[in-house]
Amino acid sequence: MARIPVESASATEIVVEGKKLTGFGGCNYLGLAHHPEVLNAVRAGLDRYGLSTTASRETTGDTMAHENLEAELANFFQTQQCLVTPEGYSANLALGQALARDYRVAITDEKCHRSVSHAATAAGMRVIAYPHLDSRAAGALAGEYVREGVVILTDGVFAADGSIAPAKALFEVLPKGRALLVIDDCHGFCVLGRSGRGTADHHGLSAAGLPLDSRVLITTSLAKGLGCYGGVLAGPSSIIQHAQDIASVYRGTTPAPPAIIEGARQALKIVEREPILMQKLRSNTDRLRKGLQKLAISLYPTPAPIFTFVTGDTASMERIHRRLIDSGYLAPLIAYPGGPTDRYFRVTVNAMHSAEQIDGLLAAFALAMDSEPTSRADVASEAKPLRINDGRTDGRTGGRELIGPWDFSLSPTLTPRLPALPG
Ligand SMILES: Cc1ncc(COP(=O)(O)O)c(C=O)c1O
Repeated sequence: MARIPVESASATEIVVEGKKLTGFGGCNYLGLAHHPEVLNAVRAGLDRYGLSTTASRETTGDTMAHENLEAELANFFQTQQCLVTPEGYSANLALGQALARDYRVAITDEKCHRSVSHAATAAGMRVIAYPHLDSRAAGALAGEYVREGVVILTDGVFAADGSIAPAKALFEVLPKGRALLVIDDCHGFCVLGRSGRGTADHHGLSAAGLPLDSRVLITTSLAKGLGCYGGVLAGPSSIIQHAQDIASVYRGTTPAPPAIIEGARQALKIVEREPILMQKLRSNTDRLRKGLQKLAISLYPTPAPIFTFVTGDTASMERIHRRLIDSGYLAPLIAYPGGPTDRYFRVTVNAMHSAEQIDGLLAAFALAMDSEPTSRADVASEAKPLRINDGRTDGRTGGRELIGPWDFSLSPTLTPRLPALPG
């Protein structure tokens, strides 16, 4: 798939090949990547710290920016401790390294982000996938392996279909004994729950003033809802401290630049201070959803600001995509694992889009689809509602073992389940 090199960007507009487009891609859900206060915090951070720490945090590359953000995030997530890592991907890898000694088996949603399953395989854990969102299957598998130490791993919000993990049900099926729930909340943080606390909060796993249960850990990215760069592990001190002590992917790397971390601190303050941003995100999400449905486009049922859908075959979607660009809109047509087909539209809306911009996109979509040989009426008559848990339709209840290597091809390597581990 061709890349789209952006020449300049604001929260809602990008310039590509000299042409200004209204953009409906990316994960800048609250528009904080362009918020003036966040940019000012980054500038002040540059003046104070320079560009890079030029060393890992456990040698001479730690800063007050990183220390402060960790304390602020622990307070935000109501967990005992947080660790800031270079990216969201390495947050998962670091957690895998920290857990693998005591937890030998990972039970993962079959559609979870590659970094999640990669983290578990790279750490030497056995990885078994359960059908998408099926907490009953996850619980049954977890029960089977609890003696070896088991972790249920899931995305909070799945980027490729917008579905939301049944976090409460997954927590409730955790067997007694050595069992944990890990939620990769890259797309739930700043989007769901009270003040953007994410999927665990959305499902009532944390309550005001009460700490998050010590069997639940959260990993996330600073590069999406907060609009900055970096990753986070949040959870009980025993595990987070262990990650800090042993995870080579954290200990052996230069951290995200302190100026960026100052930006993330400011972004977090804005998230807590301005609930209006999340309200705006929700009303924009609602407006776009209703508008796309009026065009007879089948959507997954989800409150997330992520719309993945198909409007026809690939050639037809490519033509629609091109016409949208010609009329000044970028609605990304992507190939990314976990979506409704190999190639599909992934449109995201953020809190900064105006009603006019959303309506403009909808009008452009209507026009672009009307120029196709298959009319919108035909699409409407053939449209089948997208089911969010399509993974379950083959009647599987058990899991499938996942084997690396973790390249980014559309299907991970799946093998039938192997026999139980010896002794
Ligand atoms: C669910 C999920 N986990 C992890 C990552 C990796 O985060 P980062 O880009 O900060 O490395 C991403 C996307 O980038 C993601 O969507």
